[in-house]
Amino acid sequence: MIILYGDQLLKREQVHVDIEDRAYQFGDGIYEVIRIYDGQPFHMQDHLDRLEKSAKKIRISLPYELDHLEALLKELIRQNDFTQGNLYLQVSRGTAPRNHAFPKNISPVIIAYTQPFERPIKEQTEGIRAKTVNDVRWLLCDIKSLNLLGAVLAKQEAYDHDCKEAILVRDGMVTEGSSTNIFIVKDGILQTHPANQLILHGITRKITLQLADQLQIPVKETAFDRSALFEAGEMFLTSTTMEICPIIQVDGQPVGNGKPGKITRRLQKAFVQSIS
Ligand code: PDD
Repeated sequence: MIILYGDQLLKREQVHVDIEDRAYQFGDGIYEVIRIYDGQPFHMQDHLDRLEKSAKKIRISLPYELDHLEALLKELIRQNDFTQGNLYLQVSRGTAPRNHAFPKNISPVIIAYTQPFERPIKEQTEGIRAKTVNDVRWLLCDIKSLNLLGAVLAKQEAYDHDCKEAILVRDGMVTEGSSTNIFIVKDGILQTHPANQLILHGITRKITLQLADQLQIPVKETAFDRSALFEAGEMFLTSTTMEICPIIQVDGQPVGNGKPGKITRRLQKAFVQSIS
């Protein structure tokens, strides 16, 4: 397996993380997960743009231009002969003796690797169960930060209740999933949380909103409260790995008639057309 480390492509055994890497000690860094379909990265530019925004927000200056990074990632895919799955890309602030404040003259550590992953067809066909969990994360959720403890604990709470995703609720309002964006359909209107600092501005969320526009499905980017989950006719989540996936049960209650809804199906179909 070949790994991108800085601007070098190396064998996995040749890459070592330093014990004082700030990603390791502080979660001081950012990341992206990019989907690869048929050997081609999906919406790579959107992911790189978001990486650049996240870097700026935490005051990391990327060591090279996005075009160069893109070329390295494509070479990584080629050298691994990689066709289906995820490309994980991480930028740490760098390595230095442990001290909270930014060390002087530190250089970011970039790593990227590919990971095989099948499209989750079963979940997309049958739908999944979700559980509401308090959103205890910090207030800069638009940054794709390596600090994922809030998301990890929420996802585990969902798994402990035999659910696939945690729907996060902050001050009574639904924000997003632990690793996904959440949509409901109520009275024929597609609704999702606005892209502000309380959610990650998902690439799949953006694609879904564009597809809804093309399909002339009315959309409201407005926050809704927890009780709206139990009045919704349809519900789904979006993410790079899950694509568009119906949610058929929340906290043990069926969503709508307990089956994936019609608007969800139309969007799923349009999404699949966009990747092939
Ligand atoms: N999840 N919200 C959060 C908190 C996330 O971590 C993610 C990504 C999303 C969806 O964003 P996108 O559509 O750009 O993948 C929303 C990772 C990548 C995943 O599990 O796929």
